[in-house]
Amino acid sequence: MEHLIDIESISKDDILNIINLAKEFKQGKKKSDVEKKTLALMFYENSTRTRCSFEIAGQKLGMSIINFDAAHSSLSKGESLKDTIENLYFLGVNAVVIRHSLSGIINNVIKQVKYPIKFINGGDGTHAHPSQALLDFYTMLEKIGTVENKKIVIVGDVVHSRVAKSNISLLSKFGADIHLCAPSYLQFQNLEAFNVKYHSSVKEAIEGANAVMVLRVQNERHENESYPDSKEYKRLYEIDTNLLKSYAASDVILMHPGPANRNIEVSSELLDNTVGKTILEQAQNGVFVRMAILNTLLKQGKEVNNAS
Ligand code: CP
Repeated sequence: MEHLIDIESISKDDILNIINLAKEFKQGKKKSDVEKKTLALMFYENSTRTRCSFEIAGQKLGMSIINFDAAHSSLSKGESLKDTIENLYFLGVNAVVIRHSLSGIINNVIKQVKYPIKFINGGDGTHAHPSQALLDFYTMLEKIGTVENKKIVIVGDVVHSRVAKSNISLLSKFGADIHLCAPSYLQFQNLEAFNVKYHSSVKEAIEGANAVMVLRVQNERHENESYPDSKEYKRLYEIDTNLLKSYAASDVILMHPGPANRNIEVSSELLDNTVGKTILEQAQNGVFVRMAILNTLLKQGKEVNNAS
C-alpha cells in the first residue's frame, strides 16, 4: 500500500491489516514505528472529525504535525498544489492528508509530484473518503462481528456522498448485502454500476437491517439543483427510534459519518440515546484506524531526511 486514495485501489489484505493494527493500537498493544515522521494536514474544505482524528492519531504516534493553513498559504499567490507539496516535502514532511472539494484532485497531483511523499485522501468532492469507510468497517466488525451476508442499509443523500461510495466499495469486497435508500433526486444515476439493491421506501429498506448508515443531506452541494424542502425530506426519510424498532433487526446498529442534521435525516432523540452512541464510537475508532493508516504507510519507506 503506497498511498490511501480510495478503497478500490487497496486489497482485502491491506484492509484487514489496517483493521488488525487499529485493534492493537486501541488495546494499547502496539507501539509507534513512525515517531520521527512529519504529517501535514491540508484541509481546503471544513472538517471536525477527519482533521482532529488525524491530528490526534499523529500525536499518539509521536509524529510532528503541521496544520497547513490553506487560506493563508502561498496558494493565494498562485502557487500550485504540486509545488506546495514538493516544497513541504523538502521542508521535511513525509505524508499529507488532503481534503478538497474537487473530486479526483489527489489522483491528479500524485502523478505530478516527483518526490516520495505519502498521500492520504481525507475526502475529495463526491469521489472517495477511504479512511471513513475503514473506520466504519472497524466499527461494524466490533459491533456485529462480520459484514458477510449482513444487511447494511445506507440511507440519504447518496449521490453526493463520498462516504457511501467508499463504503459500498469496501462492503462489496467483504460480501455484505448492501441496500441503498434515497429519493430519486438524491440517488445514483448509474445504479447498475454498484452491487446494491435500491429502495425508495425507507420502511422497506430497513426491514431486518443489521446496520443502518444515515447520510447527511449535503445542502452545500445542492446548488443549482431542485431540492424539495427539508420538511418533506424529514417526513419521508428521517430515521427515528420508532422506525428502527418497528422494522430493523432488534440489535441493529445506527451509524452516521457526521456531522448530522438533527431532526432532518435522523431524530435528535435517537442521536442522544444509547443507539446513537455508536456514532460517537465511530468517531473514536477513527483515531485508532488513522493511527494504523499512518503507521502502515510511513513505516514502509526507508529513513529519508527530506530536509538535508
Ligand atoms: N465524517 C467526516 O468526514 O466528518 P468531518 O467532515 O467532520 O471530517
